[in-house]
Amino acid sequence: MPLLNILRYPDARLHKLATPVTVFDDGLKKLVADMAETMYEAPGIGLAATQVDVHKQVIVVDVSERRDSLVVLVNPQIVEATGVSDIEEGCLSVPGIYELVERAERVKVRAHDQNGKPFTLEAQGVLAVCIQHEMDHLKGKVFVEHLSQLKQQRIRAKLAKHLRKSA
Ligand code: NI
Repeated sequence: MPLLNILRYPDARLHKLATPVTVFDDGLKKLVADMAETMYEAPGIGLAATQVDVHKQVIVVDVSERRDSLVVLVNPQIVEATGVSDIEEGCLSVPGIYELVERAERVKVRAHDQNGKPFTLEAQGVLAVCIQHEMDHLKGKVFVEHLSQLKQQRIRAKLAKHLRKSA
C-alpha cells in the first residue's frame, strides 16, 4: 500500500469542502488502508482525507499508545458536545506547531465504518479533541485558523523559514 502525500498548510487545497461518502466500495477500503498507513508512518494520531487531497468525509484516528486502536469515521457528525478541553493540538499539515484551540471535552459522534455500518462513539480527552480537529479538516478548516490573525501570520512565517532551511 502506498504512502500518501500530506498537504502542508497553507496549501489552498486544505480549504476544500469534503462531500459525504455514498458508495462503500473497495476504493473506499483502499483509501482508508492507505490513510491509516500514512498516519502511522508520519507518525500522527489522526488524518483526514482532505489532508491527502481526497475531498470525501473520511477520517482515521488512533490515540492509543500501542498504536493498535484504529478508529475509522466515515461521514461523521457530532450529535452531542459538552465541556471545554485544555489539550494542545498539532497537525501533520502544520509540522512543529502546537497550540490550544477551544474544543469540547466530550463528544458523541455518529458515523459509518468503512463497510457502511452506522455506529455511535462517545469520546473524551485526546480522542474527542482529535475527532473535532479532523472533522474541521473535512470542512476545509486547519486548526491554526482558530487562532488570531497575528498568531497565524507568525506561524506562516515560521513554516516558510523551515521550508527554506530544508530546501
Ligand atoms: Ni490536522
